[in-house]
Amino acid sequence: MPETEPVAFPQDRTCPYHPPTGYEPLRTTRPLSRITLYDGRPAWLVTGHALARDLLADQRLSTDRDHPDFPATTKRFAAVRNRKVALLGVDDPEHRTQRRMMVPSFTLRRAAELRPSIQRIVDGRLDAMIEQGPPAELVSAFALPVPSMVICALLGVPYADHEFFEGQSRRLLRGPRVEDVQDARSQLDAYFEELIDRKEKESEPGDGVLDELVHRQLREGELDREEVIAFATILLVAGHETTANMISLGTFTLLQHPERLAELRDTPELLPAAVEELMRMLSIADGLLRRATEDIEAGGTTIRAGDGVIFATSVINRDEEVYAAPDTLDWHRSARHHVAFGFGIHQCLGQNLARAELEIALHSLFDRLPKLRLAVPADEIPFKPGDTIQGMLELPVTW
Ligand code: HEM
Repeated sequence: MPETEPVAFPQDRTCPYHPPTGYEPLRTTRPLSRITLYDGRPAWLVTGHALARDLLADQRLSTDRDHPDFPATTKRFAAVRNRKVALLGVDDPEHRTQRRMMVPSFTLRRAAELRPSIQRIVDGRLDAMIEQGPPAELVSAFALPVPSMVICALLGVPYADHEFFEGQSRRLLRGPRVEDVQDARSQLDAYFEELIDRKEKESEPGDGVLDELVHRQLREGELDREEVIAFATILLVAGHETTANMISLGTFTLLQHPERLAELRDTPELLPAAVEELMRMLSIADGLLRRATEDIEAGGTTIRAGDGVIFATSVINRDEEVYAAPDTLDWHRSARHHVAFGFGIHQCLGQNLARAELEIALHSLFDRLPKLRLAVPADEIPFKPGDTIQGMLELPVTW
């Protein structure tokens, strides 16, 4: 491995759909690089595609966030340690048990069954936006409400409460202060506590995932209340924030690549490949966190037990050994093996749902509004800082 100064991680992107220019040196130190975290702590950054897939499938890397050695990329992330995180925060064998409970609600078939209701939600938001505009702010009018409504219906959470939980998720993922993050967790706990109470009292259970957890797993003692709350939190937060960012940043990226957009319009069959290529290119979850539980020989060196290991998906998904001209958006390449949904046992539970939402949302948006364009210059549009899920804070559009 070439010796170079450790790069600071994470850094802000300079262009919302490219990795930060500060990560450039990582291309030469690929597949494994030394980095410095916000608190000065060193860690390993995985940047090579083959090594990333090996290590993401390696059971010697743990996602147990309670461990004092678990790496944190921000002060606020460190602040929510010691809280149960379902699925993403547990290792096997417990993870396997949890994942088995959830898989039936997130299969490819289930996502296909949900398509008509996703389409109705998308059409409804577009109708409302078109009636009130132009112009419109696409994040609040479309990109956020669509996945928010979809996940509410799937889980059995009242969408009427969306301002509350969207606000708390925002504070959880990027509140300015540590106290915001802690308070957001408490508020969400209290909210789900009450929702579970209400569901327990219903004589006729609803058909949401949470109804099932309350009326089966909780009642039969397979899960306790704290665990049901932990499931509800991750599913609700991961289920709307991530997809919302892909819709907003995906729209922005398409508008910045008019030739690719025109190609997609002329050949709608390219849509699934385009969604995959956008996932690869945008890599919005850029920094998957692990801790080594044993010494691991990797990338020509030894990762020591206790070391933090972070996966820079934006750099991994642009590995020249796998993707020719990786910085170019190309619907004809095979982007399938990207790690934008992770890999291994924690690979995104909601990926089938997310793909269905992205296909329907992006297709319908440009179909209904063929003249869609930015309402302000691209460099005036605010996007999210590097230490959280990547996406647009606002996206003013007109048509
Ligand atoms: C485009 C949108 C999405 C992106 C980019 C995304 C990305 C990811 C990534 C990278 C991981 C793995 C994290 C790691 O290994 O550290 C993950 C896990 C997860 N995602 Fe997604 N996700 C998306 C949508 C969704 C949706 C719609 C849901 C719905 C519930 C969801 C639920 C989850 C859950 C529960 C996990 C943890 C799985 C486990 O540990 O077994 N995600 N996601």
